Amino acid sequence: EADLESKLPLKGKKILITAGPTYEAIDPVRFIGNHSSGKMGFDIANEAANLGASVVLVAGPTHFKAKNSSIEVINVVSAEEMYAACHLHFDAVDVAIAAAAVADYKPKVVAVQKIKKAPETFSIELEKTKDILLSLGAIKKNQFLIGFALETENEIENAKLKIQKKNLDLIVLNSLQDEGAGFQKPTNKVTFIDNSFQIEPMELKSKESVAVDILNKVISHFYEK
Ligand code: CTP
Ligand code: CA
Repeated sequence: EADLESKLPLKGKKILITAGPTYEAIDPVRFIGNHSSGKMGFDIANEAANLGASVVLVAGPTHFKAKNSSIEVINVVSAEEMYAACHLHFDAVDVAIAAAAVADYKPKVVAVQKIKKAPETFSIELEKTKDILLSLGAIKKNQFLIGFALETENEIENAKLKIQKKNLDLIVLNSLQDEGAGFQKPTNKVTFIDNSFQIEPMELKSKESVAVDILNKVISHFYEK
């Protein structure tokens, strides 16, 4: 088969990748965010480009830069912006990988002025953001769709539910159980679960190596038919 023997097995394939956190504005100077560094998504993007893929990387706020200059980076801030950027490109891609830690809720109203400190207690009404991956799963045609799952209980069962609900081909389950894994760490301990519920636990390894494992799944999808 085509370029499998060469070093560019993903040549001719277009891949959409989301990375990083999203920031949901509270007022002009404050936001709701999370500790995602964006490293996992950037590592996947770099590796995919090295394998010959044409990559669109939709990134929330992060200090990472794409190493491979062929990568088209779209910088966004909020879940709403990430949603829009993804939908602009999804039709034209062969693969989409949702590695972003998208905020689940955003302030219902964004204050125009900086909110002044006054009462002893204070609350902000939140509403759900759009689930980007769910929306892509609902419209997918031939795209190979990969999601992540971060669970702290009933990990496998919850991940399987996400595969079904979001119409995924593969989910990358992140274990926070393991000391070396997760947010702000260079390593990840993941378990792959595919849409036939085949479970494959992987060793704790660098995020670069996890990226290679994920892209090997993508390569298998295109060549093992
Ligand atoms: N995701 C997304 N848009 C959102 C929320 C999540 O695209 N608004 C994607 C993430 O990028 C990830 C997958 O959905 O690939 C699962 O995210 P996760 O936070 O584990 O699950 P949720 O569906 O948000 O459910 P919960 O947080 O309640 O577990
Ligand atoms: Ca979530």
